[in-house]
Amino acid sequence: MKLSNEQIAFYNENGYLKIDNYFSPAEVGMLYNELPHTCEENSPRVILEDNGSVRSVFAPHFVSEIYHRLSRLDRLVIPARQIVGNKIYLHQYKVNSKKGLKGEWWEWHQDFPYWHIDDGIRNPDLVSVMLYLQDTDSSNGALMLIPKTHKLGIVKFAVKDSPQKTKDYLSSLSSDIKFTVDHKLLKELSLANGIVTASGKKGSVLFFHGNIFHASNTNLTPFDRDAVLLTYNSIDNPPTNSLNPRPEFLAGRNFEPIEQLETSILYAEHQHE
Ligand code: SIN
Ligand code: MN
Repeated sequence: MKLSNEQIAFYNENGYLKIDNYFSPAEVGMLYNELPHTCEENSPRVILEDNGSVRSVFAPHFVSEIYHRLSRLDRLVIPARQIVGNKIYLHQYKVNSKKGLKGEWWEWHQDFPYWHIDDGIRNPDLVSVMLYLQDTDSSNGALMLIPKTHKLGIVKFAVKDSPQKTKDYLSSLSSDIKFTVDHKLLKELSLANGIVTASGKKGSVLFFHGNIFHASNTNLTPFDRDAVLLTYNSIDNPPTNSLNPRPEFLAGRNFEPIEQLETSILYAEHQHE
């Protein structure tokens, strides 16, 4: 479960680390079958595309034991602790369901500006892990990354106002996202470092830094691309925006260090029939 020194060195140098076959087809199947149960109708946790299909389901662990267990599994918690270099808690948890022929793009962005500006998190001591529930490549919207951009801190970004959105936090969540990397800078860094497409079979995971430039395309296949994303933060780096905090499903408020489950198994009995 522990990352090797080589894996940590790769992550520190490049800002990401992909591991194939990290979850078995049976585990992925359990998580996939559970998805409909995480999606309550009219819940603020469920974000729709403009075309009405589900874009993201936030905080699946609020309603699903298997997703709760996933967030505490040694396979995720131990590497996250190694990368962050401290005890961790769960800052954000979502499933991005990029539906076949409906799933929209994610413009180039860094994640940390949202957490810094909206939540008041001071340092980029966060790591995200993305778990693909289907085989994923450039045709159905795999994550694209620009290696080494995590070393740049928060870069120049464009801010989009979305006056049509009634709640301000919603402007981060639609395909018209709020903070996007300045396009001139994006071109410079793409030329210098190249763009990596993180293709992977189902069950692959991708650990990535909060400041790495990333994006993903629309899903032009007729098949869904569901990806589970968990973001762990150092327990010494909690949000400081306590006056106007974002809802708990967007910015976790349980700052107790996560203790990994004693077992390494996602149990079958947690699966809904
Ligand atoms: C993200 O940037 O949060 C995820 C993008 C994706 O789901 O492809
Ligand atoms: Mn992102």
